[in-house]
Amino acid sequence: RPRVLSGIQPTADSFHLGNYLGALRQWVTMQDDHDAFYCVVDLHAITVEHDPKLLRKRTRVSAAQLLALGIDPDRSTLFVQSHVPEHAQLGWVMQCLTGFGEASRMTQFKDKSAKQQAERISLGLFGYPALQAADILAYQAAFVPVGEDQRQHLELTRDLAQRFNSRYGRTFRLPEPYILKDAAKIYDLQDPGSKMSKSSSSPGGIIELLDDPRVSMKKIRSAVTDTGREIVYDPENKPGVSNLLVIYSALADRPLAALADEFAGKGYGDLKKAVGEVLVEFVTPIQERVRGYLDDTAELDKILARGAERARAVTSVTLARTYDKLGFVAPV
Ligand code: TYM
Repeated sequence: RPRVLSGIQPTADSFHLGNYLGALRQWVTMQDDHDAFYCVVDLHAITVEHDPKLLRKRTRVSAAQLLALGIDPDRSTLFVQSHVPEHAQLGWVMQCLTGFGEASRMTQFKDKSAKQQAERISLGLFGYPALQAADILAYQAAFVPVGEDQRQHLELTRDLAQRFNSRYGRTFRLPEPYILKDAAKIYDLQDPGSKMSKSSSSPGGIIELLDDPRVSMKKIRSAVTDTGREIVYDPENKPGVSNLLVIYSALADRPLAALADEFAGKGYGDLKKAVGEVLVEFVTPIQERVRGYLDDTAELDKILARGAERARAVTSVTLARTYDKLGFVAPV
């Protein structure tokens, strides 16, 4: 079975609909026929200023959401990044392979550092993509299910793997991004020109999985739509309506192409109502399951400990081979 790895940051109280439709949905389906490794990337979460109490809480809430969404810890390896020290160790090696110019061109870094004074931008934020490369390469992953915004980091990951292999001998498998066509980017409901994002969307623009469903319904009702009245999938000219159609299609499990017929003769209000209804139906049982996992954090921590142990069985082998190729003297 081909190996898969992906990660998500524990930097918000809830995952949002973009996380789910762009990436996590594939995490769940891919575990059926892949050897899947999924991690909550807490090391990445400290690249910007953070509150330790919140991080601890959000790491568990993130793991609970992944379980509630259907990640099965018996079939998939679910773990917390900092429990597997090889990520940080291999991350250092990847930093030493990454060019300053190359790292400077990363758009996520440019976005996140744009409004900051230089003194406040950490080396960790600059080196973030090198750590992400290590996350992936440590597992020799074949596929990495992510949203469109991660494409550039995956290209860097492939470049670093290739560079290491050609300098020191074949060591890393080159991973392929696994990015869905239609839902690769879910847009802000209030600003359908930009992606739904925990750091830049206004509260009205982002749908959080753990939010009160009535609040989410209201946000959908006030989503920005487009001029005209026809409900058609046309991202160029009707970004707002198209975004709602993509969301509906994914949550109702109906092909996008069938929706023009389904909504023929109906208005934007009908579409919003339909989206609101499928959303509530989707999040309600998930919220209940999340509460269940959080009621027993001892059990949750045990699941994560088991995951870390399985992860280390893989990463320790990769790290030992990497260190050997680099010329490190092995400890006896
Ligand atoms: P993060 O935590 O920002 O987001 C988690 C996943 O959600 C996807 N995503 C979206 N997809 C579609 N539309 C959106 N509006 C949207 N917003 C977010 C992201 O593409 C991502 O797949 N750097 C990564 C975390 C990471 C990682 C890794 C991923 C660390 N190491 C190794 C893969 C492999 C990040 O910031 O994701």
